Amino acid sequence: MKFLSRRSKSSVGLDIGSSSVKIVEIDHGKDGPVLKNYGIVKLPPEAIVEGEIMDRSLVIEGIQECMAKANVDKQDVVTAVSGRAVIVKKIIMDKMNPDDAKEAVFWEAEQHVPFDIDDVCLSFEILKEDVGANQMEVLLVAAKKEMVDTHANLIRDAGYNPVIIDVDSFAVQNAYELTEDEAGNRVTGLINIGSDVTNINIVQNNIPLFTRDLSVGSTAFIEALQRELGVSFEEAEEMMSGDAEIEDEEKCRDIVSSACGELSMGIERSLSFLKTAGDAEQLDEVVLSGGGARIPWLRDILRDKHDVEFKINDSVGKIRRADGLETHSEQDLGRVAPMLTVSLGLALRREGN
Ligand SMILES: Nc1ncnc2c1ncn2[C@@H]1O[C@H](COP(=O)(O)OP(=O)(O)OP(=O)(O)O)[C@@H](O)[C@H]1O
Ligand SMILES: [Mg+2]
Repeated sequence: MKFLSRRSKSSVGLDIGSSSVKIVEIDHGKDGPVLKNYGIVKLPPEAIVEGEIMDRSLVIEGIQECMAKANVDKQDVVTAVSGRAVIVKKIIMDKMNPDDAKEAVFWEAEQHVPFDIDDVCLSFEILKEDVGANQMEVLLVAAKKEMVDTHANLIRDAGYNPVIIDVDSFAVQNAYELTEDEAGNRVTGLINIGSDVTNINIVQNNIPLFTRDLSVGSTAFIEALQRELGVSFEEAEEMMSGDAEIEDEEKCRDIVSSACGELSMGIERSLSFLKTAGDAEQLDEVVLSGGGARIPWLRDILRDKHDVEFKINDSVGKIRRADGLETHSEQDLGRVAPMLTVSLGLALRREGN
């Protein structure tokens, strides 16, 4: 009998984005995961620019403030990196057991990663154990060591302990899989539109078919609105978050439509990559998350352009909530839910999984 168990029952996902810090704490009860706490704290625009940390102390303060707001008293956190310094690639290599693959993957990575192999952290997963000719398919993930170290040190300086460092796209996939029981064979585009980065991850049967980050996000839409309407960034941001009333709807829709060129092209390119690789002919559905998922008219515009349904990720809505959660939280969960997808996917990963 154990009166006291040190095994932690809950885990905390910490997502440090360019525009805000987001935290989710999940209780891993025997009846499945329960949302215990959550919080979002906006960062000043100069804190992180295009994924690069410009002012450490502002980000550290943001993390501490968010932990306090979310009411979290744990030290261990699961976190993630994303952007250009992360490379995700499917490769074919000789069949071998996972232990041997650990060694071999280093040699393979040299041909596939555009950075010096001594400067990257490598991780891999065997996707298909047998693709014929005594070969297997492996998902290779490489991230620049310098970026991973900077991220981990920042979290340590804020007083927390990063136990797992994941990748944003895979956290979104994790949140989606754990809450979606019938994804089945469908080819699903998981698109997480942040403020500066959009993570695209196309999955089928829980396997990533194609993963890429685009250097565009909701800021591009906010700036277009700011320019075209002559309003402040803050006013434009409220409109693009669905929090402010929009007077000239037709004009705003046109602005959103012209601003979505780069995003749309990124989606198109991902799809043609899939077709060329022979992995899929079309997307069956797209699930949007991140702050950009709330941009007015965006889903309709993208649906018309790409001829596929665009939904909003509702992983947060599907997780059971702890008693009294909403009464002690100051942010309306419904409004911030799409933005919590990455932190939710991280918290669901639980240490050691
Ligand atoms: N309640 C809210 N609080 C904060 N931001 C919001 C809110 N509602 C909408 N937004 C918008 O969401 C966008 C941020 O989305 P998200 O939080 O997914 O990005 P991020 O993770 O900070 O950035 P990135 O992933 O690109 O580094 C901002 O442009 C912001 O205007
Ligand atoms: Mg983000």
